[in-house]
Amino acid sequence: MRTQVAIIGAGPAGLTLGRLLEREGIEAVILEARSRDYVEHRIRAGVLEQGTVDLLTDAGVGDRMHREGLVHHGIELRFDGVGHRIPLSDLAGGRVIVIYGQTEVVKDLIAARLETGAPLRFEVEDVSVHDVDGDTPSVRFRHDGADHELHCDVIAGCDGFHGVCRQAMPQDRLQVFQREWPFAWLGILAEAPPSSDELIYTRHERGFALASLRSPELARLYIQCRPDDDLEDWPDERIWEELRTRFATREEGWTLNEGPVLDRLIAPMRSFVAEPMQHGRLFLAGDAAHIVPPTGAKGLNLAIADVRVLAEALVDSYRRGDRAGLDAYSDTCLRRVWRAQHFSWWMTTMLHVADDDPFGAQLMRSQLEYVVNSEAAATTLAENYVGLPFARTGAYSRG
Ligand code: FAD
Ligand code: DHB
Repeated sequence: MRTQVAIIGAGPAGLTLGRLLEREGIEAVILEARSRDYVEHRIRAGVLEQGTVDLLTDAGVGDRMHREGLVHHGIELRFDGVGHRIPLSDLAGGRVIVIYGQTEVVKDLIAARLETGAPLRFEVEDVSVHDVDGDTPSVRFRHDGADHELHCDVIAGCDGFHGVCRQAMPQDRLQVFQREWPFAWLGILAEAPPSSDELIYTRHERGFALASLRSPELARLYIQCRPDDDLEDWPDERIWEELRTRFATREEGWTLNEGPVLDRLIAPMRSFVAEPMQHGRLFLAGDAAHIVPPTGAKGLNLAIADVRVLAEALVDSYRRGDRAGLDAYSDTCLRRVWRAQHFSWWMTTMLHVADDDPFGAQLMRSQLEYVVNSEAAATTLAENYVGLPFARTGAYSRG
């Protein structure tokens, strides 16, 4: 078997890269370890930056997103029982965010690929990458009981944090930066109308809580919990009680809508970057190279920003023999990655409550008060949250 680009992983990064390359006439084969059903129902992120929305639209996979996605122009920060609206679009040059689940993005990308018949194999096993240092790299895998070898020009490692591609990089050249957080998120999907038109990020002395949504009938809610908590520790009534307490407001007329819990998970929180994101003919993208804590809603958006850079670099290389973009891939991506790391760290520390840190808690209360009272500080939040504009030669620009 032979192709131009072997893409490992059919998450948002791998599927989007496949789509961008297909539109440019570059061949790719996507290999995914899980089943189609599994990847289409893995509930994760829900906030798309303006740049992500534009890219999916330009790639011809935005129709359903434009029909069903919910355009938001602001978010609420709630603390000390009072809510404060951050008018994102007013502060960030009119840019918006769109609420559209990662599951839906993935479904749209898979449907588009199957429609054109471009190669996408689910349930592949024992994937390994070979000879990335030379000119003839390959990927070996098992599928339908047979062994295969896929020869290619380039391998795109889009296989997430637990994939094989980062492990295939020379470990002595890889520099890892990381931070484990002393808390996790418990997330639920509830059959209940959202309690607010816009997302609410709350800091309460008992911990962080977030009210998001998937549709006018489905609420998505998160609370800070302990990293070693088990889902069994959290029966529905305890979850709702904690949500009611943390969202409690001194203002009249707001109630938390409740309903049957359809899905639940506990997600650990991690900040992680592996540098460089490339070695020879292997290029890492998305969670394979970096993880952010979810408070800034950046994970999915960063994954798509990486493959945008990679797709443009591959086009330059195939069309004009210009390898400059590929050579600069890691440096270009990392500038945006570290901006998102900082923003995610800042949002996380500002909104979560750590045990035994009363000094930190006072600092963060002060920071929140500053953000909601200073246009300069609110603008910092807004422009990072909606996503900094892309630049051709760098990771972001002033727009
Ligand atoms: P992934 O989505 O992880 O996709 C990688 C794909 O590679 C997977 O389909 C996997 O099955 C496949 N794969 C792995 N190993 C192999 C292999 N050896 N061979 C072939 N295929 C392989 N971000 C937010 O912004 N907000 C959130 O609320 C949020 N919640 C999250 C909750 C959880 C539990 C997790 C894990 C992540 C969450 N994220 C969230 C992060 C966001 O979902 C990720 O940043 C995003 O999925 C990254 O996309 P990706 O394509 O790089 O990786
Ligand atoms: C959602 C997830 C996030 O991490 C976030 O910051 C906002 C919303 C969501 O799943 O809807």
